[in-house]
Amino acid sequence: VNQSTSQFTGQHLAIIMDGNGRWATRRGWPRSAGHRAGAEAVRRVISAAADRGIGVLTLFAFSGDNWQRPAREVETLMNLFRRFLRREAAQCARHGIRLNVIGRRDRLGLPLNSAIDAAERQTRSGTRLLVRVAVDYSARDSIVAAAREGGPVDREDFARRLGAVSHGLAGVPDVDLLIRTGGERRLSDFLLWESAYAELYFSGVMWPDFGAAELDLALQDFAARERRFGRVDMGRAG
Ligand code: FPP
Repeated sequence: VNQSTSQFTGQHLAIIMDGNGRWATRRGWPRSAGHRAGAEAVRRVISAAADRGIGVLTLFAFSGDNWQRPAREVETLMNLFRRFLRREAAQCARHGIRLNVIGRRDRLGLPLNSAIDAAERQTRSGTRLLVRVAVDYSARDSIVAAAREGGPVDREDFARRLGAVSHGLAGVPDVDLLIRTGGERRLSDFLLWESAYAELYFSGVMWPDFGAAELDLALQDFAARERRFGRVDMGRAG
């Protein structure tokens, strides 16, 4: 772990994993092959994140709008998530990695819901790295749901509600670095409130090709940024 990447210790990294479909299509393969390769990249990046001392890793796996994809592709993805949770939970538990699935659960079906409950239960004592997988997640829907709870609220209360309405664990800090792969440069309804002061990093690499080397490039770039949270840098002021 070099100096610039070690600056990320304990911080919150969020990733929009994009480009699975194009990765596969370019090879003349079905999109599902891209998603399977994407699941391998998820395993690699979780392991690299744990090695680098990252505190929270939030991965955008399926958005509320992704339901509009062809039914077969949706089914492939749901099956991948279920198998991933079933297969990786024990491994995560052994490595001190805690899993939490954020988003809505009422549209996911019983088998996936059971896999989520089991994975969260199996890994709940993990303290090294929290991995949050966003499935049927929409930042706007979470904000509306949190607002609907009613009653007086300040920023901290609202952040707590926002976590609670999407099945998130309490006390998760805001996003420090948000990476999007696949060459597009947009937020796509991911963690809008939590990324208010996130540094943004866009990579042209398709998600199935993303790994430790690409992660280190992003962390090095982050280390060179000056984070001011709307204030002036007192070292340079006046
Ligand atoms: C974006 O590629 C990716 C998704 C919509 C799904 C993300 C899913 C994975 C990475 C697979 C497994 C995940 C877990 C947590 C096991 P795209 O299909 O939008 O690609 P395109 O933009 O090239 O079409």
